[in-house]
Amino acid sequence: MAMSRLVCVGDYEQYAEHNLPNAVRQYFNSGANYEQTYADNVAAFKRYRFRPRYMRDMSERNLTTSLLGHDVTSPIGVSPMSMCRLAHPDGEVALAKACESEGSCFCLSMAATSSVEEVGQAAPGCTRWFQVHVLKDRDMMRRMVQRAQRAGFTALVLTVDCAVHGKRYKDLRNQFSLPPHLKLSNFEEELKRAKSVVATGQSKEEWGRFVNQAFSPAHTWQDIQWLKSVSHLPVVAKGVVTAWDALEAVQHGADAVWVSNHGGRELDCLPATIDALTEVCQAVGDKTEVYLDGGVRSGLDILKALSRGARAVYCGRPALWGLAKDGEAGTSDVLQILKEELSVGMALAGVKDVQHVPTELVVHQSFYSAL
Ligand SMILES: Cc1cc2nc3c(=O)[nH]c(=O)nc-3n(C[C@H](O)[C@H](O)[C@H](O)COP(=O)(O)O)c2cc1C
Repeated sequence: MAMSRLVCVGDYEQYAEHNLPNAVRQYFNSGANYEQTYADNVAAFKRYRFRPRYMRDMSERNLTTSLLGHDVTSPIGVSPMSMCRLAHPDGEVALAKACESEGSCFCLSMAATSSVEEVGQAAPGCTRWFQVHVLKDRDMMRRMVQRAQRAGFTALVLTVDCAVHGKRYKDLRNQFSLPPHLKLSNFEEELKRAKSVVATGQSKEEWGRFVNQAFSPAHTWQDIQWLKSVSHLPVVAKGVVTAWDALEAVQHGADAVWVSNHGGRELDCLPATIDALTEVCQAVGDKTEVYLDGGVRSGLDILKALSRGARAVYCGRPALWGLAKDGEAGTSDVLQILKEELSVGMALAGVKDVQHVPTELVVHQSFYSAL
């Protein structure tokens, strides 16, 4: 589809909608079961309203911050996503390079189609984190974590919300699987060595089954300590939506908590992440950094999340849509659009610094219906 200039994330979404192969588009843009959480993540942001403070000097705004002690020039990162080479041949390498140039943090998925080594070499200046699932094969998991550490990744992001995979009806109908020209690069390296090698030369179907079965549903909060015993990296618990899990994470040694519902892809009927954020922030207090992803589609969504207590905000699908449009350049465009919208929103709302966004800047819409 021909489109004039793409000026917002919605334009990139439309582009991807019309240009990606059907099964890939549905793999990216779908949620579990009847997709209640997937839809509500986006809808919920629209239920919050700004209460701005006008007539302040807004000639300068600060978008720099730090994440687990590392300086970044943007509070907008890219979430871990599997198989990004489905969107563009440069996949995760392009995402990392875009994050490097936009001063964003990039989180690489364990199930990526680029390895920790490839990403580390391509974007050495990028603040990069490595997302992990607990694997049945602990030796394999330990080696992968240590490879990430050697490749300059500075934090581990433990996904806690996915003991097994959710039911995504579209993927089931499409019988979606990794196409033969792609590989899950972090595992591919390991397979050469791992004791649980199925057989080299196996078919892609066998390979897909192997990786799926590699994830352990027997994960527990104790795995945070295990990760700390095999590396010196801080651990972020990703997928927290309740106060009790936020407390479990911190009590078991998590250095930060990432409010996420996996973009609505695993357990359906979870709260939207912007709705869950306040509960989590109140539970962990000021000392633990809290991040959010899920449904972020504009700089104003980001400002709302910062006001409700997130230190940084990550986006998943918007980065994939930018990647689908134009690789690294398309992803950079999306990150720039979000940054610019955030900066304009800050100026219009009377906020100078992303590290000091007042809580009272944002209220739920019910504040007005109660009047
Ligand atoms: C195609 C796709 C693959 C994903 N793969 C992973 C993954 O491997 N590990 C993980 O923790 N989260 C994964 N996620 C969830 C994202 O990290 C993130 O939580 C979610 O996409 C945020 O919602 P948004 O897409 O609305 O921004 C994936 C999401 C998508 C869309």
